Amino acid sequence: RPWSAVVLTLFPEMFPGPLGLSLAGKALAEGVWTLDAVDIRGYARDRHRTVDDTPFGGGAGMVMRPDVVSDAVAANHTPERRLIYPSPRGRVLDQALVRELAAGPGVTLVCGRYEGLDQRAIDAWSMEEVSVGDVVLSGGEPAALVMLDAVVRLLPGVTGKAESLAEESFETGLLEYPHYTRPQVWDGRTVPEVLVSGHHGRVAQWRREQAEAITRNRRPDLWARYVEKE
Ligand code: ADE
Repeated sequence: RPWSAVVLTLFPEMFPGPLGLSLAGKALAEGVWTLDAVDIRGYARDRHRTVDDTPFGGGAGMVMRPDVVSDAVAANHTPERRLIYPSPRGRVLDQALVRELAAGPGVTLVCGRYEGLDQRAIDAWSMEEVSVGDVVLSGGEPAALVMLDAVVRLLPGVTGKAESLAEESFETGLLEYPHYTRPQVWDGRTVPEVLVSGHHGRVAQWRREQAEAITRNRRPDLWARYVEKE
């Protein structure tokens, strides 16, 4: 069975968007994964197809109605999948969570717009809140695209070589070493000598040193975890 994503959204035209291209798009066309973008507005109850209303207690913005959102979830979510509400209040996405999601059967993503969902819909369905970083996006959709991109590239057969996954940052726990290709001299800039030396052992050692130095300098938080695990 393909890995399956169900996205509940007020903007289904945003999907697959960039995930219809390149690696993810090819895998989608091949049936490695499926994407079902469902319009939440289809679950509105009234003639005007209302999905949101003003917040109790006052204040700016609109809140998505719990009855409409809950009906959309009930009709489209199946309990074997994780039910995720992209939100800046959530656990911050990392590669460990991405691996967990990729290992499961799929996810249901409930995208909020405006001020987000009525808290009761989140509570009633025990939605997992997941943030893609300490930034405020205009809605859950771009966050959903980020999560799906990160997961889909890990699905079996999507990313070419197994080693290109194994060697990259967050799998090793280090940020990546610098990469170079032809021409060997460009605009007066040369490629580090060791990389053209043909000594595989020295190349590997240089790359590891570079990865460690970059991680230590730029991301002391990742470096601390890496040193702990050694
Ligand atoms: N919705 C708005 N901002 C978000 C963020 N940073 N992560 C996940 N969902 C969001």
